[in-house]
Amino acid sequence: MSETKIDKKIRRIHAMERKWWHNKVAYQIYPKSFYDSNGDGIGDLPGITLKLDYLKELGVDIVWISPIYSSPFADQGYDISDYYQIDPCFGTMDDMDHLLKEAKKRDMYILMDLVVNHCSDEHEWFEKACEDPDGEYGNFFYIEDRKEGELPCNWRSYFGGPVWEPLPGHPDKQYMHVFHKKQPDLNWENPKVREEVYKNINWWLDKGLGGFRIDAIINIKKKLPYKDYTVDRDDNLSCIDQMLADAKGVGEFLGEMRDKTFKPHNAFTVGEVFNEKDEELPDFIGDGGYFSSMFDFSTTFSSMFDFAGTSFGKSDKGWYANTRITPDDYKKCCFHSQKRIGSIGFLSNIIENHDEPRGVSYYIPEGECSDQSKKMLATLYFMLRGLPFIYQGQEIGMENLGVIPFEKVDDVSALDQYHVAIEAGYSEEEALKIISLYNRDNARTPVQWNAGTNAGFTTGTPWLMVNPNYTQINVESQLHDDHSVLSYYKKLIALRKDPAYQETIVYGDVIPYLEDTHNLMAYYRKGDKTLLVIGNYQTQEQTIALPAPYKSVLLNNYNDVVLNGNEVTLHGYQALILEL
Ligand code: GLC
Ligand code: CA
Repeated sequence: MSETKIDKKIRRIHAMERKWWHNKVAYQIYPKSFYDSNGDGIGDLPGITLKLDYLKELGVDIVWISPIYSSPFADQGYDISDYYQIDPCFGTMDDMDHLLKEAKKRDMYILMDLVVNHCSDEHEWFEKACEDPDGEYGNFFYIEDRKEGELPCNWRSYFGGPVWEPLPGHPDKQYMHVFHKKQPDLNWENPKVREEVYKNINWWLDKGLGGFRIDAIINIKKKLPYKDYTVDRDDNLSCIDQMLADAKGVGEFLGEMRDKTFKPHNAFTVGEVFNEKDEELPDFIGDGGYFSSMFDFSTTFSSMFDFAGTSFGKSDKGWYANTRITPDDYKKCCFHSQKRIGSIGFLSNIIENHDEPRGVSYYIPEGECSDQSKKMLATLYFMLRGLPFIYQGQEIGMENLGVIPFEKVDDVSALDQYHVAIEAGYSEEEALKIISLYNRDNARTPVQWNAGTNAGFTTGTPWLMVNPNYTQINVESQLHDDHSVLSYYKKLIALRKDPAYQETIVYGDVIPYLEDTHNLMAYYRKGDKTLLVIGNYQTQEQTIALPAPYKSVLLNNYNDVVLNGNEVTLHGYQALILEL
């Protein structure tokens, strides 16, 4: 019998080197907001350990914890002042060792956040650089002479304003920060910096970490010598993406880092990558790539998912000029991204994280959030090929905060974008509404554990406001309700792990079905079995033809399937996973 095209493709996919993490499910913890064990209003490491059984029961294997290192928290821990210490607000190194031990007992893997594009201005390296800019540590950063009214280049930092800031104590000098001014960029061109970074990575891996999520890593390669790019806002600056697209050679750093750290430890790594070109994908996440997997963060429509899904409709001008993604756009983004990656490697699929709006408030059209639509969105992204990540609270369908008073806004990027909107002529009220959709606080409010005081997150005063909807949306009320969003996530995870379907769900092809049908997202998963995933992405019913009779319904967010011959009439936001 001759091999069909599909068989050939499946054989090729199956030839891909298998990794221990391929069939896993990952979960992101934003530690400040996860669970507070000691009543100081801040989530902590013992709090995570206390909830490991909850995560295990959900079906989670890999847990990524956003930064817990010593930090002045100018950017919520993404500004690290000591890479070898746990910040006291999260606990102690003993707490960390205990967490690692407890995770191991449960066959779970802990990932830390690796933030090495920059450190904190309170890190001793930077303090020493300020003491003696011409000495050894001056070369750990990008420090330039400063002349009034002139900048070495016109790059805009991610949080607004130029990337240049006067060096404390040296008015004649300035340093570069592509993020906040309290996050000076580390000079990766300096081999000593790289050596220090690798030493730290190995130190943590030796402790028994499963690996890292790698922060903002594409920024480590700067275009040198400095040059200006096209001005794209009234501030006379240029979006940093232009520089990044022009900077060549990041691969040399990434390959070296892999060889000296992750590879010898067989560690799992997921890079926060953007700007990569199609032909570079095998280098990034192919067999033996720089990373095991990546969140794909392209800002263009042509290459996206994950962050990029939310980057769809993103404007260089600022949040006020963004356009909202529609169900059809979302479908296009997902399929494009799946096609682009093919069998090269495994993307890490998300609908939200600590930098994004709550997925259900963003990908489901306004006013249409319901348990059904939340379950449908969960089905559509979770069944794609790749490693699914769940962000804390997503599994119970946590939603955006909505519009909050200016004094309550904590996120540095939202504060910046508020001013960008005001400068563009919006009123204060309008500006608040604009930032409410993307404000990073949306995803950072405390996890809603129960309907009690502060949603059961803390007995003290929470560091960030609790979403007032916690009385309706919380873990406790969903745990024993078979129809809850939480129970649905458990079923989705269980299906991915079911030995009968695992091969198909983990390694099978994704092939769109009825791709052009409006407000419908449907695709096959083809491996040793054939599954059909269907989502009616609207409140109205919709009738579609099935390609073949189905053998069984593996998952359904309604109680029934309305069949008429080979046609199925889908309820509003109905999701189905069928075995054909
Ligand atoms: C990443 C993080 C974000 C942080 C930034 C700077 O994008 O996810 O939270 O602000 O890097 O470290
Ligand atoms: Ca605490």
